[in-house]
Amino acid sequence: MGKVSIPITNDFCPQTLFLYGTYKEDGTPNFGLFCWFSYIWDSELGVMACIGGEKLTKDRIHATGVFSANLVTEAILPLADYFGNTDGHTAEKMDIKVQTRKGAVLDVPILEASPLAFELEVFQSVPLHDGEVYLCKIRNVLVDEKLADDGKTIEERLQAIAPVRTTCRTYFSWAGQSMGKWGEPGQTVKHP
Ligand SMILES: Cc1cc2nc3c(=O)[nH]c(=O)nc-3n(C[C@H](O)[C@H](O)[C@H](O)COP(=O)(O)O)c2cc1C
Repeated sequence: MGKVSIPITNDFCPQTLFLYGTYKEDGTPNFGLFCWFSYIWDSELGVMACIGGEKLTKDRIHATGVFSANLVTEAILPLADYFGNTDGHTAEKMDIKVQTRKGAVLDVPILEASPLAFELEVFQSVPLHDGEVYLCKIRNVLVDEKLADDGKTIEERLQAIAPVRTTCRTYFSWAGQSMGKWGEPGQTVKHP
């Protein structure tokens, strides 16, 4: 089969999604949706995350040096998409019903409805022209008890949480079906 060169893109390279949680200046939580997230090795497992442009999440990471990364699953996709398409600088963004708790190790908000969260502390940041890369120590991994149940196979546990993947500005279920374009699932999230 022949090969063709196409314009620079990461289309067809699925990514896992995370909601980054930070506390605002007034102590209330804020969440944004992120996919430029991967892992690094430096004597121990760590995380690298890139944030482009100006975002409240970026301001709060600068101010506190810590954040949580909460895995996005099919059950919370509408909420995640809403958080990814609503600017945290708008006063009403967090005027919706979300249950959170404080991290077990760091002072970061954890989203109850996500089955897995990393508690992250930035140890180095690399400012770029219009973005910034954060290198982070994983201070804790907090999971729902069902994920730590060794009586279930890995396949059963993954199917139970059903992480969402994204590529081509489209969300995909764990089974690989389209769950809508970016900006679509979040339209069902309503302010009370
Ligand atoms: C599917 C999806 C993935 C995203 N991934 C990133 C990312 O990796 N980096 C980034 O800077 N912004 C990303 N965004 C944009 C932010 O989520 C968006 O700017 C959001 O409003 C930030 O929230 P905040 O203003 O409360 O920080 C993504 C948005 C969507 C819909």
